Amino acid sequence: MSERPDAIHLIAFACSPRAGGNTDTLLDAALDGAAEAGARVERFDLREMTIAPCRHCGGCASGSGRCVIDDDMQRLYEPLCAADRIIVASPVFFMSLTAQAKTMIDRCQPMWVRRHRGDIVSEARHPRAALYLGVGGGDLPLLFDASRIVLASWYWTLQVFERRELTFECIDAKDAIRERPTALDRARQAGRELASWAGD
Ligand SMILES: Cc1cc2nc3c(=O)[nH]c(=O)nc-3n(C[C@H](O)[C@H](O)[C@H](O)COP(=O)(O)O)c2cc1C
Repeated sequence: MSERPDAIHLIAFACSPRAGGNTDTLLDAALDGAAEAGARVERFDLREMTIAPCRHCGGCASGSGRCVIDDDMQRLYEPLCAADRIIVASPVFFMSLTAQAKTMIDRCQPMWVRRHRGDIVSEARHPRAALYLGVGGGDLPLLFDASRIVLASWYWTLQVFERRELTFECIDAKDAIRERPTALDRARQAGRELASWAGD
């Protein structure tokens, strides 16, 4: 399917420090599915970006409302407000999201400030929806719960109300997800469905 001017705008965050690992592979499949459904896809590999932790300096709560830190996060603010769909692909690290994911999320404090004031953050042209692609090396109880809670807070901030996920336990070696029957088909399908969701 070719891309239309009113195509769904989808942004995706690869949040693992391990290039070509399991969540990267799932994300590739999901983005293939989204592109098949006609989405305009923008992918950000956080491990290749320089994003400093939030300093809690209060800069975004006063003045311009913008983050004062001049780094690669500045490239993300506009797409984070404009995107119709968001994918976060992160392995579980110490029972939560990776530092790459959490650092980016913390830097969304300017949006949290706006939301807390009752302002509108989303400039999306279509109802917003998000997909979390997660893997963990083990199968401990509550493996994905902390990630879900962090993402729920972030989704509230970004005004994302349709929240989906596809998670896999016991995926540890770099290529383990390729050995899991149907995993990549399911990721592709999840990407396709995320992009084609009509907002009902
Ligand atoms: C620093 C670190 C912390 C980890 N913490 C957990 C954990 O708490 N629970 C778990 O099941 N796996 C944990 N893992 C294993 C990863 O989730 C697993 O290897 C995963 O497949 C990595 O995904 P990737 O290939 O996309 O990087 C950890 C790995 C690392 C390097």
